[in-house]
Amino acid sequence: MPSVVIVGAQWGDEGKGKIVDFCAKDADCVVRYQGGANAGHTIIADGRTLKLQILPSGVLYSKQLLIGAGVVIDLQILSNEIEQVKSLGIDVNLVISGKAHVTLPYHNALDQKWEISREEKKIGTTGHGIGPTYADKMRRHGVRMEELTREDYQEKIRININIANKILHHILNDDQYIDFDEIMRYIREVGPRMRDYIGDVSKIVNEALDNEQNVLFEGAQATMLDIDHGTYPYVTSSNPIAGGACTGVGVGPTRIDQVLGICKAYTTRVGAGPFPTELIGPIGEKLQVVGKEFGTVTGRPRRCGWLDLNMIRYAKRINGLTGLALTKMDVLNGFDKVKVCNSYLIDGIETENVPIQDLERCKPIYFELDGWNSLFEGNVLCQEAKEYVKKIEEIVGIPIYYISTGPGREEIICLRNVWS
Ligand code: GDP
Ligand code: IMO
Ligand code: MG
Repeated sequence: MPSVVIVGAQWGDEGKGKIVDFCAKDADCVVRYQGGANAGHTIIADGRTLKLQILPSGVLYSKQLLIGAGVVIDLQILSNEIEQVKSLGIDVNLVISGKAHVTLPYHNALDQKWEISREEKKIGTTGHGIGPTYADKMRRHGVRMEELTREDYQEKIRININIANKILHHILNDDQYIDFDEIMRYIREVGPRMRDYIGDVSKIVNEALDNEQNVLFEGAQATMLDIDHGTYPYVTSSNPIAGGACTGVGVGPTRIDQVLGICKAYTTRVGAGPFPTELIGPIGEKLQVVGKEFGTVTGRPRRCGWLDLNMIRYAKRINGLTGLALTKMDVLNGFDKVKVCNSYLIDGIETENVPIQDLERCKPIYFELDGWNSLFEGNVLCQEAKEYVKKIEEIVGIPIYYISTGPGREEIICLRNVWS
């Protein structure tokens, strides 16, 4: 099977970076298809910890890395990541789509000030300029990477800055002033470092698939943060779902062979928005502390709750999941009983659907399983943990490929291989 999409099945931070790194060993190329510096993908391997925001997580294996048209690129952050990886003595074989849009400092300013103006209805964005960059793209006024190789984008930037300043001053009542010359100095300094990486990513990926190479598509964020199918408006501004790999890279849907959903053994969410199985109290706090549930990019504490299989079934439908990777199983050590949600109660009626607009009113209906103190008996999973995994497979109705039992690359049980 030569092409696999890796997609977050919950609200992000499921451990996509770890699983992409693991699967990258046997991949020929790894391609990011959406999102930007809002992502934080952690890889812990070879005594190193990498927290990647834009570079695809195949980097430690020096694979062919690609960044598709659907990604938005913070030039400074990408440039720093490339330098960081090179300083470890690792080659960066990278091609960036010329069609990918550029996040510039005025996008970050707008993102942060819009958030302040939302008062008690804040989304809790990462502040990395994601919404405003995608808004410029959809407004058909964004700046694409390929334009950095030319000189004729300046007028567009001047207009964009004028608009940004008007929004800041007249709508958001802010006194910040975005200076055109300063932005141009920034682009002239960082932009040229990117020029040599620009190429035709869609062509490269399609040719790799023609040649039966193994292609890994790396999603950022997750299903429930999808702009169309997530918990709108508490979502990101792109399409993290598997379909986003097609539009974000420029490959047809017939070219995708497998979709692996990454699912934590419990649920977390950073930022605002509905979360049916959220646990406010000692159990949620225990998951947060043991699971080190603090944002990779922003350091914010992640909200925690029990596993919600109703939501994972929704993720299966929206993404066409063919398999799951279950992560952070070790974090559930030390519970007498573990709870799993399988349906919601809304207006006195039980539903196995996910009514996005009414999610705030949905109450989880749980079943209980025996917990465990130690995940392993010898070098196999303990009986209770096996039961937990079996129940998930049964209820969601797709096979589990990998069980992650710790943050390191080697801490993984491989039940099936995505490449065979
Ligand atoms: P991503 O955004 O989906 O790539 O996930 P993040 O890297 O933001 O967050 C996942 C966090 O959990 C990182 O700190 C990982 O090192 C860590 N992690 C991944 N898998 C496991 C696991 O099985 N057990 C534990 N304890 N930590 C894990
Ligand atoms: P990875 O790829 C978890 C959340 C933010 C906020 C909402 C919108 O590491 O899983 P944005 O800055 O995108 O406009 O914020 O989306 N969010 C994430 N939550 N993991 C992420 O990425 C996220 N990227 C954005 O917290 O609620
Ligand atoms: Mg993350």
